[in-house]
Amino acid sequence: MRISEHVQEMSRWSEAQRRDGRRIALVPTMGFLHEAHLCLVRDGKKRADRVVVSLFVNPKQFAPSEDFAAYPRDFGRDRELLERESIDVLFHPASDEIYPAGFQTQVSVDKLGLFLCAPHRPGHFQGVATVVAKLFNIVRPHVAIFGEKDYQQLQLIRRLVQDLNFDIEIVGHPIVREADGLAMSSRNIYLSPEERQAALCLSRSLGLGACMVRRGETRERVITEAVRAEIEKEPLAKVEYVTLCDSATLEAVEAVQGTALLALAVRVGKTRLIDNRILKPME
Ligand code: PAJ
Repeated sequence: MRISEHVQEMSRWSEAQRRDGRRIALVPTMGFLHEAHLCLVRDGKKRADRVVVSLFVNPKQFAPSEDFAAYPRDFGRDRELLERESIDVLFHPASDEIYPAGFQTQVSVDKLGLFLCAPHRPGHFQGVATVVAKLFNIVRPHVAIFGEKDYQQLQLIRRLVQDLNFDIEIVGHPIVREADGLAMSSRNIYLSPEERQAALCLSRSLGLGACMVRRGETRERVITEAVRAEIEKEPLAKVEYVTLCDSATLEAVEAVQGTALLALAVRVGKTRLIDNRILKPME
């Protein structure tokens, strides 16, 4: 496994691979890797001849009040995990390599960047879109893998690729969960044992929503209120939002027709967690 810290070196490697007719997969991450990240990497390996994982804690996607400085980092462990997966390149640039002095361009995706998490994380999706567009230009992958846990991010990147004519296939990987249902996340490390237990209310409440829809309930208000009430039974949890929306546009819907996305963000103690589930009404 090569470790590349420089944009030019990374781009040259990709150019050479492309010249030799090799297909490149990119898995963008912010590190502190867990099993879900590794599932994305394995998915990438199946879809391409070469796999690049980027590891960059992107300062632009953290609002000033957020956890950029505290975001968990363990480069040694990440490097070992990726070596074991036999990836080809770990792209690990320093911040000034990605944002050199004078940098002033932002990429923003208008409507998809307004819903769900957006009002609660000012500037977040602009930061994501900007860094992902840069990674795409630096690595020039044929395919890039993103997790459905960050469903809004995935839809936004699909839009960005279409709107800016990136010739890249975007693959959404299903949410990877712990055995008890908690969606894996680098931020789960912040949870105390009691909070870790309390955090199960996210997947449990989504299960309740799915169950209601399977039983014939389609009304947005009824479903989201039941989901919210289920979360609120947990004293350590505080709902940020529970939304039922169109799974492509993310616009709110009044009823489940076809498929809909049930998405939520919850604070458990000080930790903000997100989760989602696609709902399908009875056939
Ligand atoms: P990060 O949070 O490190 O996540 C990297 C990738 O792993 C994302 O595509 C995310 O959706 C996916 N992922 C994380 N947990 C997952 C889970 N439990 N199941 C499935 N996929 C999961 O997302 C980011 O980094 C950044 O915003 C990034 C895209 C790298 C841009 O900075």
